[in-house]
Amino acid sequence: MSGAISRQSAAAMRLRRATVDDALRLFSWRNDPVTRGASRDSRVIEWPDHLQWLKTVLADPAKQVLIAEIGGAPIGTVRLEERGEATEMSWIVAPGQRRAGLGKEMVRLATSQERRRLQAVIRADNLPSIAVARAAGLVLLHSDGDWLLFGSTSRDCPK
Ligand SMILES: CC(C)(COP(=O)(O)OP(=O)(O)OC[C@H]1O[C@@H](n2cnc3c(N)ncnc32)[C@H](O)[C@@H]1OP(=O)(O)O)[C@@H](O)C(=O)NCCC(=O)NCCS
Repeated sequence: MSGAISRQSAAAMRLRRATVDDALRLFSWRNDPVTRGASRDSRVIEWPDHLQWLKTVLADPAKQVLIAEIGGAPIGTVRLEERGEATEMSWIVAPGQRRAGLGKEMVRLATSQERRRLQAVIRADNLPSIAVARAAGLVLLHSDGDWLLFGSTSRDCPK
């Protein structure tokens, strides 16, 4: 894909399930230095480990990897993982597509499709990600200094 996608086209965003064919793009987005700096594990991920991780996640019904697309062009990813009664979310916008409002739109879309209670752990200095979480309706639930826990407060939880 060439060039940045405009803020206006965010309305045409769609989410689809990732497949193993997305392995390379997810690998490059995850190893981007800004993404690594925002992650709990900031080490460079090796390709075999990434591929094994993706295959395991795709086979796990408690986990989802979504790809956000605009006009068929992948622009980012949202990961969802069931943890007890909540679903933990994390997200990445492709490095070349940042600062155009797409992160906010992508996470808003993902949260609107999820009925379980949501939570996201965000580094306290990750201001873009905090703005994305707030725009999706998540509120600050807990802080331990370096890390913040954001979550939804009014979702139905399956029994
Ligand atoms: C966090 C991330 C998803 C934000 O995506 P994005 O598409 O760039 O975000 P948006 O354009 O929707 O902008 C969200 C807000 O952050 C601000 N912002 C975005 N990038 C910024 C930057 N580098 N510096 C300062 N502010 C920034 C935007 O201006 C906007 O602020 P506003 O609410 O005042 O308008 C993206 O930066 C990213 O993928 N980072 C690496 C991975 C990551 O941090 N994931 C989250 C882990 S919890």
